[in-house]
Amino acid sequence: MSRYGQSAAILILTALVAGCGSATGTAGSAGSGGDVPGTGGSAGNGGTAGAPIELPSLPWPLTAFPELPDIAIDVPEARIELGNLLFFDPVLSIDSETACGTCHSEFWGMSDGLPLGVGNGAGLPAGPPREGPNVSRRNSLSLFNLAFRESLFWDGRSDSLQEQAIMPLLDENELNLDPDIAIDRLAAVPEYVELFAAAFPEDPRVTSDNLAAALAAFQRTFVSNRSLYDAYIKGHLGTLDDELIEGMFRFAEMGCHDCHAPPLFESEIFANRNIPAIDGIEDEGLAEITELPEDVGKFRTPSLRNAVVTEPYFHNGSVDTLADAVEHELGQSGLPFTDEDVRLIERFINKALRDETRAALRPRTVPSGLPVPVDGQLFPFL
Ligand code: HEC
Ligand code: HEC
Repeated sequence: MSRYGQSAAILILTALVAGCGSATGTAGSAGSGGDVPGTGGSAGNGGTAGAPIELPSLPWPLTAFPELPDIAIDVPEARIELGNLLFFDPVLSIDSETACGTCHSEFWGMSDGLPLGVGNGAGLPAGPPREGPNVSRRNSLSLFNLAFRESLFWDGRSDSLQEQAIMPLLDENELNLDPDIAIDRLAAVPEYVELFAAAFPEDPRVTSDNLAAALAAFQRTFVSNRSLYDAYIKGHLGTLDDELIEGMFRFAEMGCHDCHAPPLFESEIFANRNIPAIDGIEDEGLAEITELPEDVGKFRTPSLRNAVVTEPYFHNGSVDTLADAVEHELGQSGLPFTDEDVRLIERFINKALRDETRAALRPRTVPSGLPVPVDGQLFPFL
């Protein structure tokens, strides 16, 4: 890269770091093959806004992490706190033992560590080895970076987090509780009546709209943008070692970023990745929404952020390990690859794309007084 090219790129990067988070800049390093640019006497890894910083070597144009939408910013704190309690309160389930946090647990990257979600009727313990009579036909999705999403679910059938929030109640394999009964139950708990009033000063009632809005507001706080990759693109070059940078370049060379697009490492691309079907489960994916034969077997591209903790993988949870999932996806690329490619790409996803710092926090007690579902360190035998 020419001297001029590099300083121009540094200016762009400095501007990005200085706060215009939604801007997209081109670092001009495409195809530079994994070598880190020289230090050039810059301010190093300090990352002080305004100071020149080192240029990351990237296989794609540098794109800053998106700004949160207004709906995720202008939110009363009381609404988020109410959403947090509702998310973990089994009062919203028919058996009074199951909650959103049963299948979307902070111990499993906001998923559940199970091939398929196991809903009501299976007791308080969440995560493996939970089993029960009501099993969903798909793998529970992780809930990071929902604030930036255009479509939700493996088949994209919802486009609004607020609209989505009531669906788990209606699903007989999940919470299976009539929303009207849920509202009656909540309205009978004096603490909830007060919490709803504080969360919705303009409409201080216990309604299903407010229930959905509180759950949505809480879920928008699960932002994952503090991974090593995020630090690296801000110029903290020491965060990615040579192997991680090599893994990132191989990820791009194999075309993975066409669908798992940085910086979110997901996209609205629906694709058929030839995931083996599971006996007894009918699932046509996107075609169930569009009714187009060419959409059979297509699913939305999930994020690879935190994928290391959301095993097992794919829409039907049919692949146990991240390495095997990567190998399957490499096989779909049509390009030749080696075991070393699998290892380096798995390591890049595993180490560089992990940040669970803003996962949900499981309360010890909830206003209904019911026992909170248990998982991780709260597991009964630990
Ligand atoms: C029985 C387990 C289970 C329970 C309980 C459950 N979910 Fe889910 N959740 C799933 C599964 C499985 C999917 C994927 C379904 C699909 O794509 O068809 C999902 C998907 C989602 C999505 C879409 C995420 C994305 O990336 O598109 C959101 C949001 C969500 N759930 C929120 C909730 C909320 C809020 C609750 C409680 C009101 C809840 N879930 C209760 C299993 C569960
Ligand atoms: C054409 C778009 C596309 C490309 C290219 C692509 N993927 Fe995927 N990827 C998907 C879709 C869609 C899924 C979900 C498929 C399903 O479950 O049916 C997925 C799933 C995954 C998963 C499992 C994630 C989870 O949470 O279950 C991993 C890991 C993965 N891809 C890695 C890669 C790697 C590595 C590459 C490059 C070799 C790659 N993908 C290339 C679209 C793509």
